[in-house]
Amino acid sequence: MVNMDVLKEKVGKKAVDIVKDGQIVGLGTGSTTHYFIKYLGERVKNEELDIVGVPTSYQSLILAREVGINISTLTTLGDNEIDIAIDGADEVNSNLDLIKGGGAAHTLEKLVDSSAKEFVVIVDESKMVDQLGKFPVPLEIIPDALQLVKNRLIDMGGKPELRMGIQKDGPVVTDNGNFILDTKFNEILNPADLEKELNTIPGVVENGVFAGLADKVIVGKMSDIEEFDRD
Ligand code: 5RP
Repeated sequence: MVNMDVLKEKVGKKAVDIVKDGQIVGLGTGSTTHYFIKYLGERVKNEELDIVGVPTSYQSLILAREVGINISTLTTLGDNEIDIAIDGADEVNSNLDLIKGGGAAHTLEKLVDSSAKEFVVIVDESKMVDQLGKFPVPLEIIPDALQLVKNRLIDMGGKPELRMGIQKDGPVVTDNGNFILDTKFNEILNPADLEKELNTIPGVVENGVFAGLADKVIVGKMSDIEEFDRD
């Protein structure tokens, strides 16, 4: 049995090597980027790097602070560009299209990842798929839109489920105060079209399909580490 956590640590540690002194770095969310942020903090401390991190969630903000990474936000950065964003994913296909949002952070992740000059995804090998869609697509929605969005998703052939909290009664409430509808589609033949269509539903803040955004995917495997670049 492969321990995915070992692979997450392996790839998170590896990604730290591509960050250069003086860069503004988008900090993704999740258990893989946890390792990236942790080891980036070690590099910042040991090599006295001048790095500014732009977190994509309270989770990455709190961890980055703990490990001594200076923090900024998209608002405070103004027109200073993010040099590189490093983030995890729930599924990756051979086109480097992604499903994200397993941690309900995909709205800010999409903003930060889209704002970066380079967007690098780090995953363990279990995330690589032939076709996206086994993992339900998370949609962040305004709470008042729950019924309308559910109906529209069902009309589109989706099976939406309101994500429920763990050790918290009722639904998950995102960092932005919204709900998450995890939506299973039978098959996702065209991720870019689905991404656009989902965002046209009134009340949808953002969906977890990231089509055509990743520049590079680094995959932690038992045997080695493999890298895929957008052509
Ligand atoms: C959070 C995300 C994560 O990047 C994604 O869920 C992968 O998480 P993990 O590294 O824990 O497997 O999109 O919203």
